[in-house]
Amino acid sequence: MFPLDQPLPTMFYLTLYVVTLVVHVLFMNYVLAGSAYVAWVSVFRGTDGQRPTAPAARVLRDWMPAALSAAITAGVAPLLFLQILYKKDFYTANLLLFHRWMAILPVLIVGFYLTYFLKSKRITHRHGLVRAAIGVGAFACFAFVAYSWTENHLLSQRSQVFKTAFYATSSIIYTDPRLLPRLGIWFFGAFPTMVWMLGWQLRYQRNTGQPVPGSEFKRLAVTGVVGLAMAGLCACGYLWAGPADEVGGSVIFGQSALVWTVSSLMGGLVLLIGLVWLAICPDQPTRSLALATVGSVVAILGATCVREVVRLNRVDLEPLYTQHAAAMKVGGLWVFLLFFAVNGVLIAWCFALARRKMGPLNA
Ligand code: HEM
Repeated sequence: MFPLDQPLPTMFYLTLYVVTLVVHVLFMNYVLAGSAYVAWVSVFRGTDGQRPTAPAARVLRDWMPAALSAAITAGVAPLLFLQILYKKDFYTANLLLFHRWMAILPVLIVGFYLTYFLKSKRITHRHGLVRAAIGVGAFACFAFVAYSWTENHLLSQRSQVFKTAFYATSSIIYTDPRLLPRLGIWFFGAFPTMVWMLGWQLRYQRNTGQPVPGSEFKRLAVTGVVGLAMAGLCACGYLWAGPADEVGGSVIFGQSALVWTVSSLMGGLVLLIGLVWLAICPDQPTRSLALATVGSVVAILGATCVREVVRLNRVDLEPLYTQHAAAMKVGGLWVFLLFFAVNGVLIAWCFALARRKMGPLNA
């Protein structure tokens, strides 16, 4: 069973990679689905500046820059572990895609500033079209980044023969019939995660005496269920588009991935039950949110492991085992832990300062 079927050093890095990627996916989901939600609200409800914004959209707007920095920061760790694990298949390959790959940086910077614009008081009084353009612009930036990671991942899964021929053409744009359905899985699958995260924020607001109607929880729950259903449809489309190279669907039900595939499906089911429960009883959201949270994290963890087993079937790690063992002997853990603690305290301090100045969550 993955990752126990690998030697200790490789298992160590695979575990760190998967766990840190799950953290990235959680925040990334909040940003991707949350910015889509805000864009939708700014287009369809934003033309009338006098109308109060619904609590969900307001919280999303206020927290988007913080969530984006969390998503980006949490992306760094798996990026580093990937380079240790796959070496030339990830690191060197991406150097060859340099310009295409680096394009995500300016786009992310623009997206970052647009999220600050969206929450600024000056923008609230601007014409609805301006707010709509900013909302859609921010979402477009994050959708482009998601598209880029998906494109990159699919390319990295192709056979060595294909990749050698592709890089030899100096082309930097890779097209694949599985790209859109795969992106669809990520995009629609982001909604249920965003829903329970935002659900906890709204519950906190309600507990601190701010008005959050039950209908808001209900709307969120329905959004999550629709997202889950659409992600399921895209998954069917992805399987239908078929494997590009030699690896078939049998891998996900093979010995290495079976437990994770089942966990992912069961987690998805628990998530669905939690969301339906929230839609039925929106006035008591605590238990349904807790159920949805557990289901979602299990589903994401399972899917991330299956995703890695699929890659391991395409990339032969055996020649890299000795390098993984050598990497494990490199010191520095205590320095890392020291800076981890210092940064953790600094971040907590920033939140405490902002909170002291603003009162409870965007009051
Ligand atoms: C809002 C910005 C971002 C979005 C929407 C996003 C989205 C995604 C998506 C959709 C994937 C999965 C690709 C696939 O399996 O098809 C992914 C993977 C990943 N992302 Fe992000 N990402 C963002 C920012 C970042 C940043 C800034 C970093 C690094 C600093 C990062 C690091 C990673 C890593 C390491 C993976 C795994 C790649 C692999 O296993 O091949 N992400 N991201």
